[in-house]
Amino acid sequence: MPKFSQGPYQLRVRALLAILFISFASSYAAAQQTPPSKVASDRLAAGASLRALQADVNAALSQIEKALLVTKADPALFKLPAQTAINALVGHEDPGFSKVAASPPGLGALPDLEKLRKQAGAGPWRTMLGGVEPNLDVAVEDLKSTLTTRDFYAFQMKASRALVDLEMALGHSGASDGLAGIDGALAGTTLGLPKGTIEIDACKIPASVTAPTYGVKDGRIAFLAVPTSAGAAQMAFPAGLAAAGLQTKKGYILIQTGFGMQLASSCAGPAPPAAPVHQQGMATPRPMLYTLAQARAGKALFQSDCVTCHGANLQGVAAPSVAGTDFLTTAAHNGWSLEIIRLLVVQNMPFNNPGSLEPVQYADLLAYLLASNCYPAGKVAFPLHDDATFASIKLGPAPSNAADPKTGVCPVN
Ligand code: HEC
Repeated sequence: MPKFSQGPYQLRVRALLAILFISFASSYAAAQQTPPSKVASDRLAAGASLRALQADVNAALSQIEKALLVTKADPALFKLPAQTAINALVGHEDPGFSKVAASPPGLGALPDLEKLRKQAGAGPWRTMLGGVEPNLDVAVEDLKSTLTTRDFYAFQMKASRALVDLEMALGHSGASDGLAGIDGALAGTTLGLPKGTIEIDACKIPASVTAPTYGVKDGRIAFLAVPTSAGAAQMAFPAGLAAAGLQTKKGYILIQTGFGMQLASSCAGPAPPAAPVHQQGMATPRPMLYTLAQARAGKALFQSDCVTCHGANLQGVAAPSVAGTDFLTTAAHNGWSLEIIRLLVVQNMPFNNPGSLEPVQYADLLAYLLASNCYPAGKVAFPLHDDATFASIKLGPAPSNAADPKTGVCPVN
């Protein structure tokens, strides 16, 4: 990790810009479609390109990290790793490439991406990788400007920006949308699956499995089922697969991804989880899940850690809304339970620094989100860990007199 850190404001503005790029790229990509058979035939080659892309970005990242560890203000020490990072991003054919420094492990990240585009056809990865190119481009620009500076401070500033951009390009292995990036596409889609894997429809939870089997829906990985009889060696956790849940079934273990957990409720047919107690648009009173003190503490945290992306009124700015009619309608539509939202916040938020808060702080933030979504406060605190009942608490709109008539957000005072 870099020794030098930029002000949080600057980092956020950059993260926001990248997200705006990504949102644009995702909606563009969503409009493209080609037949699934074509996708399948190109998939293995495309998967190899995607891994090469990941290796090139990681090579560039480790060079930048190395450069940022230089503590002497001697340009000769930090320029070589910076040029090596540029080489890893642009590849041999680019005018920015220099023989003075080492070559990338692959073609170079940008050429890898270009190749991947030609191979991969349409699929969820198009959306997931939508933000990669703009992030690589800004990283290259920042790195190039480090080559001409003599000023140590300016060098560190630019290099640490490039570092953030590349981390955004790598993305999050747990995400399944435009913010997933390279790691997300490898961990969450069939592009990341090696040759010869067994794939089944993710809506059909198997009665038994004899070999590791992936549940796939529309190119996305929903689960991996591993037979317990295969012994400990086979149980080795597959690299990159972002597990969100584990279930023990008869004779096998089901490792679910975040996508798989969301999918489970939207698959037709008998669903494994117990029937939810509360229905959407319910007339029954909503459960009391947190204390007012927690919601107040959460409000302060939200203002410092979440407001840049989600807005002062939780209406969403660069990121989606997290409270009110808009959010609750989306939640009901997607069948989101409190378990899913809790996981999403605890594992992925703040988006630019996931998992960086203390369990107590996450509990406070969830209390604030529940309060803003008009769930009543009670005497028992929101827990620090997942609770067995959360999976059956489905989020959805419910009329409340306290809510703002326009946004449907309940104020927390
Ligand atoms: C750098 C921008 C950024 C920051 C800071 C941030 N988020 Fe997010 N958040 C996002 C993005 C982008 C998404 C959508 C990503 C996704 O669906 O995976 C999101 C999604 C969410 C969602 C799910 C809403 C939905 O409709 O998908 C919740 C809840 C949430 N964030 C809560 C928080 C909380 C609480 C914080 C503060 C601890 C926070 N976020 C900080 C960018 C951010």
